[in-house]
Amino acid sequence: MAKIALFGANGGIGVHILREALRRGHDVTAVVRDPAKLAAEEHDRLAVLTGDVLDPRSVATAAAGHDALVSAVGGGYTDGAAHAALVVGAAASLAEGLRSLGPAAPGLYVVGGAGSLRTADGRQVWDADGLPELALQVMRGQGDALEYFRSVADVDWTYLSPAADIGPGERTGAYRTGLDDLVTAADGTSRISVADYAVAMLDEIEQPRHLGKRFTVAY
Ligand SMILES: NC(=O)c1ccc[n+]([C@@H]2O[C@H](COP(=O)([O-])OP(=O)(O)OC[C@H]3O[C@@H](n4cnc5c(N)ncnc54)[C@H](OP(=O)(O)O)[C@@H]3O)[C@@H](O)[C@H]2O)c1
Repeated sequence: MAKIALFGANGGIGVHILREALRRGHDVTAVVRDPAKLAAEEHDRLAVLTGDVLDPRSVATAAAGHDALVSAVGGGYTDGAAHAALVVGAAASLAEGLRSLGPAAPGLYVVGGAGSLRTADGRQVWDADGLPELALQVMRGQGDALEYFRSVADVDWTYLSPAADIGPGERTGAYRTGLDDLVTAADGTSRISVADYAVAMLDEIEQPRHLGKRFTVAY
């Protein structure tokens, strides 16, 4: 069993990663700004730590002694620039905090965005017509965070882009993966439930296949 530290454990995607990790028997340290927001997730293998992903010392403290560090942080959905600033700032802080642990640093697993994935027409998801400015800012911020990770060679990182559409739905345990190309079903849609996204994230943590890479998951 692994010891997993998780930023964003009370978030829409993070809580599913938390539950999937606990379901598989791992020990989880949930790193949150407000422990009260996790009150409903009591479990004997869950420890709660207060921390801020934008503080590299907080990242180092959270990650020390763990086998994996997951970041499922986001900057909310009312201010695209703030969301972008959070994921870009988090990327730098996560790398700096892990770097400070030297060879003892655990691998980093980042909940990423789908906007930068290539589409069948040779463009990228964020090139679609009519996207609202807020969504574009979030997508670009996530793209900038990915570019940043791609420049980092001294920290083990993996960036998991969801399908274009991620939301509530059943946990099937079945999914397909890709690298930089959007994974679509026969009808052209690209979708994954948050529960199955969490399955893919835990599968990767248990058996890393995409070290230093972005990969994506969809039905
Ligand atoms: N299709 C797509 O491409 C797609 C779709 C959805 C999400 N995403 C990405 O997935 C990530 C997670 O999304 P989500 O919908 O699960 O977000 P969410 O529900 O808004 O959750 C965000 C989490 O981040 C935490 N957080 C924010 N700032 C923090 C800080 N400074 N230190 C520690 N924790 C902090 C929040 O904690 P508080 O409660 O304390 O604020 C919350 O737990 C985002 O980065 C988003 O861009 C991509």
